[in-house]
Amino acid sequence: MSDGRALARAFLEQQRLLGGDPVILPDGATQGAPGTPGLRPGSVGAQATATPTSGTPGASSGNTSARPAPAADLPPPGLSFDPPGGDLFSNDPIPQAPSLAAIAQLVAACTTCRLCEGRRHTVPGEGPGDAQLLVVGEGPGRVEDETGRPFVGPAGELLTKILAAIELPRERVFICNIVKCRPPENRQPQYDEIAACVPYLFRQIEIVKPKVILAMGGTAAQTLLNTKQSLGALRNQVHRFRGTPVIVTYHPAALLRNPNWKKPTWDDVRIARRLIG
Ligand code: URA
Ligand code: SF4
Repeated sequence: MSDGRALARAFLEQQRLLGGDPVILPDGATQGAPGTPGLRPGSVGAQATATPTSGTPGASSGNTSARPAPAADLPPPGLSFDPPGGDLFSNDPIPQAPSLAAIAQLVAACTTCRLCEGRRHTVPGEGPGDAQLLVVGEGPGRVEDETGRPFVGPAGELLTKILAAIELPRERVFICNIVKCRPPENRQPQYDEIAACVPYLFRQIEIVKPKVILAMGGTAAQTLLNTKQSLGALRNQVHRFRGTPVIVTYHPAALLRNPNWKKPTWDDVRIARRLIG
């Protein structure tokens, strides 16, 4: 019983952090099964998912149901990208790298694009090799470049909270970026830099075999889905990368500037959570 209360309290706090409406629990509202706070239809979070599908291009096109989708429904399928994998007969070391550590070593020595020039540390990514969720951002920022770790600056702190909110502590998630070296002044990585770096990410995904990929921000989404569609158009669909579901949401750095996007982000990460099971 007290377990249920504690979970409910934690859930409401997370909901507040993510910009949800304030909610007051009626007395004794602990009847929810412990371990599933907020994921049941009719719970607080369900209200947040009721609205955002309308008006989003793509969200309605694949939806054949006349009724509004219940909260537990998944969004319609979206794009599918199947880049070719490693060729057994090639001697390119990236697609042959046997482990995440081997990829990190290759990245540490990499000078394939100009981003190597200004870096202090490479930031290959981190997390368990059998993570169920793989999060992809854009590229290292200042703190990441200083430490060699992904998402440890202000955006990273928000990401850590978002992951806690779906009961996936960041230690259980593989977290990485499209480019592994910091772009000068945090500018967006350029097309040729992304093209040079993305084989590392593709191999990381192949090794981790996550159940779900969460693409945070336009650069991650457009790269993983090989499209120029806007982030707004790509949200609210279940895309696929080599068959693995890809959920697209806002970048946490954008959320820091635009708190209005916290609620849609909450909806997106809950979809990712539901896909993990
Ligand atoms: N922003 C990103 O996209 N990645 C990081 O690692 C940090 C901030
Ligand atoms: Fe190599 Fe990627 Fe760094 Fe460019 S950004 S130097 S491709 S590791």
